[in-house]
Amino acid sequence: MLGSMSDTLPSKPLATPRRVWSIPRAGSLSRLALHTEPLAPPGSGEVQVEVTAVGVNFADVFACLGLYSATPSGKFTPGLECAGRVRSVGADVDRWRPGDRVMVLTRFGGYATALNASAATLWPIPESWSDAEAAAYPVQALTAWYGLTALGNARPGAVVLVQSAAGGVGLNALQALQTLGARAVAVVGSAAKREWLIGQYGGQYGLTPETVIVRSPRLAADLDAALASLGAQGFDVVFDAVYGADFEPSFARLAAEGRHVLFGAADFMSVGRRPNPLRLAWQYLRRPRLDPLAMISQNRGLLAFNLIWLWHEASRLPEAMRGTLALIPNPPHIGGCYAFEDAQAALAAIQSGKTMGKLVLEPHRAAEPAAE
Ligand SMILES: NC(=O)c1ccc[n+]([C@@H]2O[C@H](COP(=O)([O-])OP(=O)(O)OC[C@H]3O[C@@H](n4cnc5c(N)ncnc54)[C@H](OP(=O)(O)O)[C@@H]3O)[C@@H](O)[C@H]2O)c1
Repeated sequence: MLGSMSDTLPSKPLATPRRVWSIPRAGSLSRLALHTEPLAPPGSGEVQVEVTAVGVNFADVFACLGLYSATPSGKFTPGLECAGRVRSVGADVDRWRPGDRVMVLTRFGGYATALNASAATLWPIPESWSDAEAAAYPVQALTAWYGLTALGNARPGAVVLVQSAAGGVGLNALQALQTLGARAVAVVGSAAKREWLIGQYGGQYGLTPETVIVRSPRLAADLDAALASLGAQGFDVVFDAVYGADFEPSFARLAAEGRHVLFGAADFMSVGRRPNPLRLAWQYLRRPRLDPLAMISQNRGLLAFNLIWLWHEASRLPEAMRGTLALIPNPPHIGGCYAFEDAQAALAAIQSGKTMGKLVLEPHRAAEPAAE
């Protein structure tokens, strides 16, 4: 006897529900909203990942505020990285199996409890690392690796100025410099960060009270004192994503052949939930500028980059991840874990400029009870 149609046709894979943060258009953090939607099965070349941790980046705030040039126009989900377990794989995916622990690079879309990602953007989680550490690693470690080696040309013995040294990228940069045998001078935004950095990592990264500086109007004198304590004439590399008042005194202290590597403009961060256009315009008009002709005779250079281009160069990712893990082999410092529902609080914390290390969202963590 013939079976019914439903017995004979292959069953169609079903969409599964997921929670996702999205914003209808960039411009204000208040527009970010959490909702539930169906997630289709993975397409050809894709892997479906159940997300267990999401990395929070300073760039996520810039993206929501509309101050990040790579931000999609219209509705988007923030998030450049996450970690989790492979749930299922689409056609033409050989490398990954259900259950594999993976970190995922996402060009936006990471703030989700499950997602479909191109198989080429996944990387296995080192065995001893937690999922939170894995989600915290790719963006900031790749940034430190690329900026310090490919652009900064940091070598053993080099003297390198690291801005925001207690932050996510900054701590990765300090670890990279230790591996390279280079010497770091750290700049941070508060006395509390300075104390924490010296106490937590001073011994490991060769930092002394002279080489950890709190940003202040007397920065030039502090930089000179730090260089003198290292017996150095100038910096071989300045690693800078602040682009504020420190820019000119740092550039002026580059040694011959020194490179200032610029990869962000944290100084342009807004204070509230939406940008202040007048303040931004004023800052933009007064931004530090350089004269390329003067750079020739000074033998100093400025290089700049945005790593987001790498997300489109999937064939280069394995080489990039291998290089990064060799340079920065230890898991990152997690400064705070938040429930997935508390993404707004995590973004506010990183926007404040007070955080140390990396913040992570965890879908399986219970949300903080609302304040009375
Ligand atoms: N180009 C790229 O490909 C790329 C990739 C990743 C990150 N980035 C950039 O690298 C920087 C570090 O990123 P991250 O995710 O690791 O963040 P983070 O360093 O953990 O946090 C940002 C830090 O910026 C500093 N800052 C300076 N002025 C600020 C202001 N007006 N408001 C708030 N914070 C201010 C604060 O530290 P201190 O006060 O201690 O300096 C703050 O902690 C960011 O500027 C980010 O946009 C660029």
